[in-house]
Amino acid sequence: MPLPTNVVIETILSRSAAKYYDPTATLSDDQIRQLVRIGTSAPTSFHLQNWRFIAVRSSEAKARLLPIAWNQPAITEAAVTFIIIGQLADASTVPERLAPVVEAGIMPAHMVPEWEGPARSLYDNHPQRQRDEAVRSATFGAAAIVYAARSLGLGSTPMIGFDAEAVHREFSLAEDEIPVMLLTVGPERPGNWPQKPRLPVVDVLHFA
Ligand SMILES: Cc1cc2nc3c(=O)[nH]c(=O)nc-3n(C[C@H](O)[C@H](O)[C@H](O)COP(=O)(O)O)c2cc1C
Repeated sequence: MPLPTNVVIETILSRSAAKYYDPTATLSDDQIRQLVRIGTSAPTSFHLQNWRFIAVRSSEAKARLLPIAWNQPAITEAAVTFIIIGQLADASTVPERLAPVVEAGIMPAHMVPEWEGPARSLYDNHPQRQRDEAVRSATFGAAAIVYAARSLGLGSTPMIGFDAEAVHREFSLAEDEIPVMLLTVGPERPGNWPQKPRLPVVDVLHFA
């Protein structure tokens, strides 16, 4: 029996990368905060929440980002471009991250060391794993924003077309922070392509 469809699935299936934005449109700081709040509902390993979001939405900040993002016009034209930042996974942050979970009565306090221990064995002295987790967390956060934007009728595009070192420097990222991607979001103008055809499922799915 096929899966039923619903508005969430329709939103996912109808999203496409937006190239053309309405350059006159803006999003308020509150709307931007709401999008990021939705982004932070994404899952992270050990609830690390190892991410940060810079909302580039003033003309001054867009002008700083444009030349270090391959001069992609969407930087200027989209209402906002998020610098989606992943932070190197740091197991020592686990108790602090879990404190509100214990406080909310979701997790018993005795479980905190049971999460911190494995997190330490996974990440301590494993820089590649710390970095992988930064990229995973940031990507999940960005994905949640992408689909929320689509559901609100806003276009979005993740972008890797930028100079990571220059963005790091220009926007004063910390040493443990990686600019994982840029994410333009805003009302679109006509001309964007629909979602491109995908590889057939038979080519990408293997049952085991
Ligand atoms: C990690 C990533 C980086 C991307 N970088 C750019 C970019 O720098 N500029 C751009 O115009 N599109 C960029 N894209 C959009 C892709 O080209 C687009 O998603 C792909 O062609 C599939 O199109 P669709 O999403 O509309 O189906 C990027 C997408 C991803 C996931």
